[in-house]
Amino acid sequence: PIAAVVLAGGTGTRLYPATRGDRPKQFLSFGDEQSMLEATVERAGFADRVYVLTRPSFAADVEELVPSATVLTEPAPKDTGPALAYAAHRVREELGPCAMLALPSDHRITGEFEPTARRACRVATDTERLVTIGVEPDRPATGYGYIEPGPDRDEFYEVTSFTEKPDRETAERYRKRGYYWNSGTFAWTPDAFLDAAGDTELEPLVDALDGGDPQRGFEAVPSISVDYAVLESAPNVAVVPAEYGWDDLGSWDALARVLEPDDDGNVTLGESLTLDASNNVIATDGHVSAVGVEDLVIASFDDRTLVVDKDDAQRVREVVDQLRTDG
Ligand code: GDD
Ligand code: MG
Repeated sequence: PIAAVVLAGGTGTRLYPATRGDRPKQFLSFGDEQSMLEATVERAGFADRVYVLTRPSFAADVEELVPSATVLTEPAPKDTGPALAYAAHRVREELGPCAMLALPSDHRITGEFEPTARRACRVATDTERLVTIGVEPDRPATGYGYIEPGPDRDEFYEVTSFTEKPDRETAERYRKRGYYWNSGTFAWTPDAFLDAAGDTELEPLVDALDGGDPQRGFEAVPSISVDYAVLESAPNVAVVPAEYGWDDLGSWDALARVLEPDDDGNVTLGESLTLDASNNVIATDGHVSAVGVEDLVIASFDDRTLVVDKDDAQRVREVVDQLRTDG
């Protein structure tokens, strides 16, 4: 069987100030009728079981938004590495041997997802590899993982190296050399994933899960994404190229790629007035006017305003960190 695990426990810091603590990005819709979470659960509908993996404080909202899915809550918010180990353990308990398909809930997908996803699951169960779905880069994005493809095994490529979030120069080099982006959509068997995680700094958690004490396990490991914790070091990673259109909507610059621009290249979510302004991204629940500026993100929600160079959209994370520290 296939168990889809939708990741919905992030806070969406890079979409500040649209996202504040209690309003994470997966519940947003970006002009679509459905929230990203609903769209993801629908996309996973071909699986035998659909779980949504989230933190306890989001569980009630998730249940209301996607009642058809089974909600799994991880004991503590420690990023996707620990969360996915917890999910793998639960899924194995409930379904036995299966393919676990992990899907982020901040993606926009066009075209057909299912054929590629099924292929990834097949490779995962046939080979016991950790399979990621790869996307061909069209720019040197710094917010993604980069995958160096190795030998072609027909249904997949072996992965020679995996580098999470390189700097721009490195990203440019990787793109020229034909690396793939990691789409963050993974397929593996729970056994293969827990084996791989057991060889990393997630080992105390894997042991504690086996010992029936997830809480203690979460206390014993750092907050770390699955990309840094497992994918960068695992020797048995495979990549299956995506046969669909893909984008990550987790940072403001993405709006420039998915919304229809005006004649000057500005995109607006909400209401705006622009004069001699070009190629800006404007997002607001009020009204924004922009004059004579270019290549900016201007985001204004509630009583908060963010202005950032489009190229620095990944750095919004730092703003939120700083605001948290300052209280
Ligand atoms: N359950 C749970 N718990 N989910 C989480 C947590 C957590 O602690 N933290 C994040 N998530 C969810 C987010 O809600 C999102 O759906 C997904 O996990 C991925 O997290 P992001 O924070 O959006 O990751 P990213 O975009 O920076 O990087 C990942 O995705 C890229 C492609 O979109 C990595 O896998 C990159 O390698 C990849 O290129
Ligand atoms: Mg993302």
